[in-house]
Amino acid sequence: MAVSATLRGTILEIMVDNPPVNALGHAIRKSLLEALEAGARQPEVEAIVIACAGRTFFAGADISEFGKPPLDPILPDLCNAIEALGTPVVAAIHGTALGGGLEVALACHYRVAVPSARLGLPEVKLGLIPGAGGTQRLPRLVGIAAATDMILSGDPIPAGKAAELGLIDHVAEGSLIEEAHRWAQSIADQRPLPRTGERPTAGDAAAIDRYAQAHARKLRGQTAPQACFEALRAAIDLPLAEGLATERRLFRQLVDGDQSAALRHYFFAERKAARIDGLDASIEPLPIETVGVIGAGTMGAGIAMAFLSKGLRVVLLETSAEALDRGLAHIRQTFETGVAKGRMVQDDCDQALARLSTALDYAALGSCDLIIEAVFELMTVKREVFARIDAVARPGAILATNTSYLDIDEIAAATGRPEYVVGLHFFSPANIMKLLEVVRATRTSSRVLATAMALAKRIGKIAVVAGNGYGFIGNRLLARRRSEAYELLLEGVTPWDIDEAHVGFGMPMGPFRMSDLAGVDIGWHRDPTRVENVRDALCAAGRLGQKVGRGYYDYDEKRQAAPSAEALAIIDAFARSQGRTRRDVPRDDILERTLYAMVDEGARLLGEGIAQRASDIDVVWVNGYGWPSYLGGPMHWAERTGLARIVERLRVHGMPVAPLLAEKASRGERFDDPQAA
Ligand code: 3HC
Ligand code: NAI
Repeated sequence: MAVSATLRGTILEIMVDNPPVNALGHAIRKSLLEALEAGARQPEVEAIVIACAGRTFFAGADISEFGKPPLDPILPDLCNAIEALGTPVVAAIHGTALGGGLEVALACHYRVAVPSARLGLPEVKLGLIPGAGGTQRLPRLVGIAAATDMILSGDPIPAGKAAELGLIDHVAEGSLIEEAHRWAQSIADQRPLPRTGERPTAGDAAAIDRYAQAHARKLRGQTAPQACFEALRAAIDLPLAEGLATERRLFRQLVDGDQSAALRHYFFAERKAARIDGLDASIEPLPIETVGVIGAGTMGAGIAMAFLSKGLRVVLLETSAEALDRGLAHIRQTFETGVAKGRMVQDDCDQALARLSTALDYAALGSCDLIIEAVFELMTVKREVFARIDAVARPGAILATNTSYLDIDEIAAATGRPEYVVGLHFFSPANIMKLLEVVRATRTSSRVLATAMALAKRIGKIAVVAGNGYGFIGNRLLARRRSEAYELLLEGVTPWDIDEAHVGFGMPMGPFRMSDLAGVDIGWHRDPTRVENVRDALCAAGRLGQKVGRGYYDYDEKRQAAPSAEALAIIDAFARSQGRTRRDVPRDDILERTLYAMVDEGARLLGEGIAQRASDIDVVWVNGYGWPSYLGGPMHWAERTGLARIVERLRVHGMPVAPLLAEKASRGERFDDPQAA
């Protein structure tokens, strides 16, 4: 039985056991309501405790039920029924009380939680508002300012903070279930029962306006946050029943909309990405405690921090003491800033630094379980480094490369143990960015792959497996977008028009601002006399990007970008040298050509088996390149746009169409569905 009721003395304990996370699907809602109503009818029951078995209290509504017709009792009705009971109900919370889970707890008359519990309303991250009373009950309990923070950020808060806010009545230091029973006994006689409708909302709309203003940029383009604001205003202006009706209306609109569908797709996509098709799930990962990092530049330092802050030891190796000092100074400063900004405590900072050692001699890597190379992006250098690692690494150690584009089989061939070589493609800044592409080379062993995936999870990364092909998943799409954007430049479209179109679409920045920021010279051959594309032309003129104050844009001392007449003249001269003539490009064509090209490239990745599934490509682009999550990623967005339309427009533009894309479009099929088993 997923829901069981046991009478202990005069307290009825209702235990829900619906692994893995006690989601409130239809069967659970129905059984829970029946158990509660039956309990309230029993004269000997003085109070009821609701608790959950397994790793967590209810983690929310069952997300897989959204988009299907709702079945009674729906969650808002269950919550209203709980609050209306004449018998006091106590929620006993452990793990995470999220979304509908917290809403059930809010409908209970009292809440008891263990210190490790976390409570939150993450609905906004699914393109929704809390739809079972959360927007009305939470502000009446904790005030409008705290409720606005919780509902709009979607981030859970720890039990201690919840207790301070009055969201929890008692923190159980001992056994949760025993303390919940004692608490229930202690309040069993208290009347009237605390009910939401009796409480006015503390605070006024100014807190909502402040939040909206402070986060305007981040919230732009999204429908759910605006609906959250409206529901919160209703909590101030309207009586409970009307506020709940407003919330319900807004929730229904959102749940049927494209943005929530995209975010739900993304939720399941991220979880599915962790699965490697055909890999034996029982393979035991290799133990990893000490990590060698070669190269203390931008990536090496970031990678070192990613491991240090999760409790692993790091040996950082460079070619000179100066380079080591620079890397070390960067690491120290980043950690110290973290402490100053309250993201890290001093003790953790000290311990992380104590786990770091440095070296100039490869012999120091002999005890490492994993060695990651993050040196210059040149095959000769990488191969030389791998040969040296191979000579000192212990048998069984994993050898990884952080290369962005290079052939990992060729790198692995510089060692005598290619089955231990894998790509670990971190994103910059590697201590912050969550994405990790795990690149499976031809001979990478299953155990090494399983270890890489387990390690990624341990250090809080979202790992996606990619095959060994130019640019893997993310950079391959990026390169395709870039070459299409270059074409547009040659036809006379300005970099700023292209950037503006991408920002208008929802990207944090356009391709040329991004190039300026990263360095226009990334991947440049460094020969100013060889000018084969727009990038070469800019680099030859010293326009290397923001770091030198000029790239596609000009930058002032405050790093503010302004369109550059000089860059435009360079592009124009290059276009003429190629015999290109300007033409009028309709504005809509900009996005069609850059984004549909990416979809086409994604279909090629699938056809070649470089990406396991379309949703993995979405995870890469949402996490690593700023594709707006509320558009689900390029492949989900393509399905929503219509594959047939994309194929038709690609043909109109005279662009190639991948066989898989043409096939799916003509059959009216989707790429894949991450919700499917
Ligand atoms: N509905 C359906 N399935 C869910 C789910 C949910 N609410 N939450 C988690 N799952 C599934 C996952 O898909 C995964 O399935 P899989 O094993 O087949 O891949 C499994 O449960 C385990 O999930 P995680 O891998 O995420 O487990 P973690 O231990 O890493 O994290 C968690 C646990 C923090 C609870 C995390 O799963 C989570 O954040 N869940 C979603 C919480 C949420 O968004 N709740 C709000 C739902 S919307 C709502 O309640 C609307 C209401 O207002 C009306
Ligand atoms: P970087 O130039 O900042 O750092 C490279 C470091 O490697 C330098 O400190 C250099 O002294 C050191 N180095 C060079 N040869 C060495 C050797 N033989 N032994 C030890 N150290 C050596 O470069 P960055 O940006 O950190 O890139 C490193 C690698 O990571 C490249 O392969 C790059 O393609 C990849 N990468 C870069 C990303 C980025 O955004 N910068 C993102 C993802 C991957």
